[in-house]
Formats: sequence, C-alpha cells, structure tokens
Amino acid sequence: MELVAPPIPAETYKLGFIGAGKMAESIARGVVSSGVLPPSRIRTAAHTNQSRRAAFESFGVQVLPDNQAVVEDSDVVIFSVKPQVVKGVVSQLRPLLSKKQLLVSVVAGVKLKDLQDWAGHDRFIRVMPNTPAAVGEAASVMSLGGAVKEEDAELIATLFGSIGKIWKADEKYFDAITGLSGSGPAYIFLAIEALADGGVAAGLPRDLALGLASQTVLGAASMASKMGKHPGQLKDDVASPGGTTIAGIHELEKGGFRGILMNAVIAAAKRGNELSPS
Ligand SMILES: NC(=O)c1ccc[n+]([C@@H]2O[C@H](COP(=O)([O-])OP(=O)(O)OC[C@H]3O[C@@H](n4cnc5c(N)ncnc54)[C@H](OP(=O)(O)O)[C@@H]3O)[C@@H](O)[C@H]2O)c1
Repeated sequence: MELVAPPIPAETYKLGFIGAGKMAESIARGVVSSGVLPPSRIRTAAHTNQSRRAAFESFGVQVLPDNQAVVEDSDVVIFSVKPQVVKGVVSQLRPLLSKKQLLVSVVAGVKLKDLQDWAGHDRFIRVMPNTPAAVGEAASVMSLGGAVKEEDAELIATLFGSIGKIWKADEKYFDAITGLSGSGPAYIFLAIEALADGGVAAGLPRDLALGLASQTVLGAASMASKMGKHPGQLKDDVASPGGTTIAGIHELEKGGFRGILMNAVIAAAKRGNELSPS
C-alpha cells in the first residue's frame, strides 16, 4: 500500500527553482519582498549563464552547484525552464523526486499528465502566470494533479499571491487562459501605444501621451478589479449624454472594438491548442 505523503511544513519548508530565469526571479523576488519566505529558504542553480547567479544572490537566494543539489534540498520544487527542455530536465531528476515533495511547473503549454509521467508522481501543480509577474501584478491560474492536497494548493496560492492574483481552474481551460491572460498583456500594450498615438494625433507631445495612456489603462483596470462594479456600469458612469466619452465609444463600436478583442482571445486560444495537442 502506498504511504500517505506528509504535509509540507508551512513554517520551515524550502523552495527550489529549477531554471534560474526571468520567471523564477520574479516569483522569488515577490516571495521575499512580501515576506512569505526569507531568501535563506529559497535556492536555485545557475545553468550555463552565470550572470543568473548574481541576480539571485543579490537578494539573498542560495545558488547551489546544480539541479540535483536543489532538488535534494527542497520541499517544494518549481520547474521554470523553457518548454523545449522540460521533459529532459524532469526525467533526469526523476530518481531524486519523491511524493514528500510538492512539484510545480510554470512551463507554458506542457500538460500535467506529461509532467506527472516524467516525474513519476502526481503531487504536481501546473501554474500559468503571465509577464506582469515582473512587477508583482501577474494573473496566474493553477490546476492540480491527482495527489495534490488542499494545503498544497493553499501553499502555492500564497506563493503566487505574492506576485499578483491566482485562480484555480480545470486544466481543460488552459488554452482559453493562454488566449486571455497569457497573451492579453500584449493586446493591452498595443492599446496603450494606439491611445498614445491618438493623443499625438490630437496634438499632445509623445512623452505626455504615453504616460497618460499607460496610467489611464492602469487606473481603469484598478477600478474594474477593485470597485466591484460591472465594467459596463463603469462605462455608463463616465458616458454623459451628448458628451465626449460617448462620442469616442461610438467610434470604437463602429470599428468593431469588442469583436476584435474577442477574436484575439479566441485566435490565441486556438493557436495554444494547436501548439500543445492533447
Ligand atoms: N516570463 C514570463 O512572463 C512567463 C509567463 C508564463 C510562463 N512562463 C514560463 O516560464 C518558463 C521560464 O520562462 P522565463 O521567461 O523565465 O525563461 P528564461 O529567462 O529563458 O529562463 C529559463 C532558464 O532555464 C535555464 N535552463 C535551461 N536549461 C536548463 C537545465 N537543463 N537545467 C536548469 N536550468 C536550465 C536557463 O539557463 P541558461 O540560460 O543558463 O541555459 C534559463 O535561466 C517557461 O517555460 C515559460 O513558458 C514565463
């Protein structure tokens, strides 16, 4: 009979990153700056690029000689390597991985079933963060493997809560999530640039237009996320009869603004499915 895996000790557990890249650094920095874990309980290993050692050591994370040392000294292991190499990396570490450890992957497009097969166990959580993790505003979603306990999910929600917000969802939604929150920051960068171009066309200096455009998107997103009002209501609140805002909205509707955004999410979700077929 299989032994029941013990809980991860919340007050003392050690967190290891396999892959010392940008995403691992964003998570580690968020975890440390929010006080969720001290840096002494975080470890990683530099692969070929030794500048990554300095990046992690600069905020107190231990950089061990190799991946094996990281796994042997961690209770929670986050795989944060590129999709092309993850199979080889997990398979190579398999002899060292035990069900006493909670495994996590942030690798885009790689399914739990494959991760679990390569690791040899299913105490595995797949997380899809997005690039605003770099500024502590990620939108992340996690999906749980078969042997994951409720406390494991809570622990990962706390870790990723330090770099933004996290939701739990069935893995069948991951292509749609990729199309919305994964690719979404790029749609908004386009929107910010276009708003600034509009400001320049209306006579504003470029710097002022770009600053106003980014801050307007940030402010509107904060209102939509914090005020508990439907975005349609927020729009109605600022569109006074015969006013400037409804004149602008009319142009957006004539150009098919909503349909274009919906199509962008659907197209990216479809492409995500093509790139990682079941
Ligand atoms: N960046 C994001 O916002 C974002 C968002 C969602 C998901 N993700 C996912 O997060 C993962 C990491 O992305 P990233 O942006 O952090 O990429 P990255 O900066 O290129 O980091 C990947 C790291 O993996 C290391 N690596 C390669 N082979 C390795 C091996 N055999 N053992 C240990 N380390 C190895 C690389 O080291 P060397 O350069 O020294 O080889 C590099 O430091 C990807 O799977 C990506 O899909 C990222």
